[in-house]
Amino acid sequence: MPTKSLLLAACLSFASLTAPAAIAQTVTGSGVAPGTIANSPERPIGFAAAAPARGVLVVLMDSAALPALDAVGIGTAERAAIEAAVAGAKFEGKANATLSLRGIGAHNRILLVGTGSAPTLLARAEAGGKAAQEVRSDAQPVTLTGAFTGTEGAEAAYGFALGQYRFDRYKTVDRKPPATDAVTIVGGDAAAAGATYAGRYQPLADGVRLSRDLANEPANVVYPESFVADVRKAFSGVGGVSIEVLDEAAMRKLGMGSIVGVGQGSPRGSRMMLVRYRGAGSPDAPLALVGKGITFDSGGISLKPGAGMGNMKGDMSGAASVVGAALSLARSRAPVHVVAVAALAENMPDGNAQRPGDVVRTMSGKTIEMVNSDAEGRLVLADANEYVAQAYKPRAIVNIATLTGSIVGALDDQYAGLFARDDALAAQLLAAGAASGEELWRMPLHKNYADRVKSDIADVRNSGGGGPGASLGAHFIGFFVDEKMPWAHLDIAGVNRSESNSPLVPKGMTGFGVRLLDQLARSGD
Ligand code: BES
Ligand code: ZN
Ligand code: MN
Repeated sequence: MPTKSLLLAACLSFASLTAPAAIAQTVTGSGVAPGTIANSPERPIGFAAAAPARGVLVVLMDSAALPALDAVGIGTAERAAIEAAVAGAKFEGKANATLSLRGIGAHNRILLVGTGSAPTLLARAEAGGKAAQEVRSDAQPVTLTGAFTGTEGAEAAYGFALGQYRFDRYKTVDRKPPATDAVTIVGGDAAAAGATYAGRYQPLADGVRLSRDLANEPANVVYPESFVADVRKAFSGVGGVSIEVLDEAAMRKLGMGSIVGVGQGSPRGSRMMLVRYRGAGSPDAPLALVGKGITFDSGGISLKPGAGMGNMKGDMSGAASVVGAALSLARSRAPVHVVAVAALAENMPDGNAQRPGDVVRTMSGKTIEMVNSDAEGRLVLADANEYVAQAYKPRAIVNIATLTGSIVGALDDQYAGLFARDDALAAQLLAAGAASGEELWRMPLHKNYADRVKSDIADVRNSGGGGPGASLGAHFIGFFVDEKMPWAHLDIAGVNRSESNSPLVPKGMTGFGVRLLDQLARSGD
């Protein structure tokens, strides 16, 4: 068990998202931020050509046939014992199936994890993630091997990194810290796999972790100003990055009545954060990734029902995922040009909150009749899209937002909804979804739906009052994007949070969109 001083050392040495507690106190005038305890440390991941017979041995298998195991200390007798157990248990290497064996040779435990036949990158990653969760409480060094060729071991390592994620920093009594002994990946070209992991997959896993951390943080810790501070910290020292932040006064000056209106009921000032990363040899025009960043969505005056309202701390998942994707791209020095935009506000009821029926003017000059203060995501995106179009002249704009309950009814937690006017961009996104494992399903944007968001007294209204809700939200956002601009909108309301563990996505906020948008940016045009 770690002593108090060891725990303190761990807190100091692990980068964590810290709340400026003093600010939280002055702004809210009540309560205290919960503190800055770090999440439990994770197992460090390394690569080697061979490993001694000790601790836990994890073997990835695509069938009942064992891969070569000489490099991990398995001799003829041990191999025969494992083969007998595999036959006895009828273990066939089906995807994410496991078989745990004890009492063989010098290993404390031998864990077989299936990848299914002809495994892909994602199948190897999932098996790695499954292994991470299975060995969580084995206080032993772990060796992970399989029939890897070339850099395939890096793919299992990537899954291990995603699967071992935990958000336990506020647990002080019953934390049960997972084991921290190293995991060593053996097989294929160890040196090349190590380089691929460090150059590509570790940055990606770090981007996913940033997104999950930001979304899992409660809304008294992550609010617009502290989101900006946390993201600045995550990017400190990363090359090729420039950050611009607009505070409320700057946004008011630019005429952004729509996002300012959303944050008007909260004492926590709204922000727009733009993180640009430009890699070597990339095009002049960036790809704009614009995320909804409602740090808490109470619904405002159109107050939501109480049950489950706490989940609305994750209503900034789109913003968290665009900065996570930018972090991955920047940390891996990808030859791409992106600008991640976080449209940040807190949606609260208050004497100063905007009222249903209010009319606001956006930066574009177009006016909105704000008929439902709970349809706030589209309001912050209207101004964010206009600003990034004017200030950064992007070659395409992709929105990502926990926008509607309607998309949850249509697609649940299997797909994010994709809305696009541009078929080429839609095809790129669908392909990036399939390749990354963060899948999309294209939804209709029929032009006649647009009539339902027309207003009698302004240009447009922010709710059509029922009907195809997710499509109406998409239409509303599209109304603020130039017809000639390739544009897509991803509604992630059903996929930003998971109620159960899966190999790559532990229960809680998922970081959905980081892997997808990282892949999209790399796939170029
Ligand atoms: N943040 C919610 C959408 C949401 C719902 C996210 C469930 C995650 C899970 C959004 O701001 C919202 O309240 N949308 C309304 C729009 C309606 C008032 C037009 C909705 O979907 O009910
Ligand atoms: Zn919302
Ligand atoms: Mn809402």
